[in-house]
Amino acid sequence: MITKIFVFLLGLSPNVKRSLWRWLYEFWANYYQKPDWKFMNYGFVSLEPEVSPLDLAEEDEDDRYFIQLYHHVATAVDLKGKQVLEVGSGRGGGAAYVARYLKPNRIVGLDFADNNIRFARQTYPVPNLSFQQGDAEALPFENDTFDVVLNVESSHCYGSMEQFVQEVSRVLKPGGIFSWADLRTLDQVAALQQSFEHSGLKPIKTTEITHNVLRALELMNERKQTFIRINISPFLKEGFKEWVAMKDSQLYEALQTGQAVYLSYVFEK
Ligand SMILES: C[S@@+](CC[C@H](N)C(=O)[O-])C[C@H]1O[C@@H](n2cnc3c(N)ncnc32)[C@H](O)[C@@H]1O
Repeated sequence: MITKIFVFLLGLSPNVKRSLWRWLYEFWANYYQKPDWKFMNYGFVSLEPEVSPLDLAEEDEDDRYFIQLYHHVATAVDLKGKQVLEVGSGRGGGAAYVARYLKPNRIVGLDFADNNIRFARQTYPVPNLSFQQGDAEALPFENDTFDVVLNVESSHCYGSMEQFVQEVSRVLKPGGIFSWADLRTLDQVAALQQSFEHSGLKPIKTTEITHNVLRALELMNERKQTFIRINISPFLKEGFKEWVAMKDSQLYEALQTGQAVYLSYVFEK
């Protein structure tokens, strides 16, 4: 059975949906403020045997699977020396990975949850990295500002995907790259494709990464179980388990049965 919470949230009117997600992210950023929780995505594992594991500093090992999703999205193009925007940067771990390892000239992490921005600014004093509060559907930047826009597992929260993609197109320089990854239920995929088509952005690569994400969820399940046991109060546990797609959640089942898919697309302006 497809996850009811996810479908419920995605089916709401744009304004209600936007406000509910915002409330949820403000709540969790406030609820857990320790710096050991840096990512909020479902992770990625390469299933190609010839791909060697990502070389990470010891302090990043615990976050390997989350980082691998960022690496998959962010290496769609060489970021060295580029102006990069990440929309929906969450607690900032991904933008910090990009800043430290992939050496853009600068990366701005943008998120609409003030508490996330506060947390990220405190946690990552990295020179080529900054964080800014703002809305994906009204990006606070001039036209033609960025070489690359990244968006990792955030767009399912937006009121209008079409508005977001148009904003991305506006702030990208001509020839700029938009690299996106997120999940959708199967019946939402057609509307998603339409939003991309209407943006005028040129598709370069479209990949389905559901199995890569499922493998990461499987490998992280035990760690999440421990985290939940220690940190999440009993009355929040069930909702939290669904949100982080534990192996007994409806969302995990939906990905496993093909009722939901995790997609990764790259576009050029
Ligand atoms: C599932 S989290 C992913 C965070 C991060 N990309 C990661 O992988 O760790 C989704 C993030 O999108 C942000 N978000 C949702 N709607 C947004 C909007 N309209 N504008 C900006 N950020 C938004 C949320 O605050 C949240 O931090």
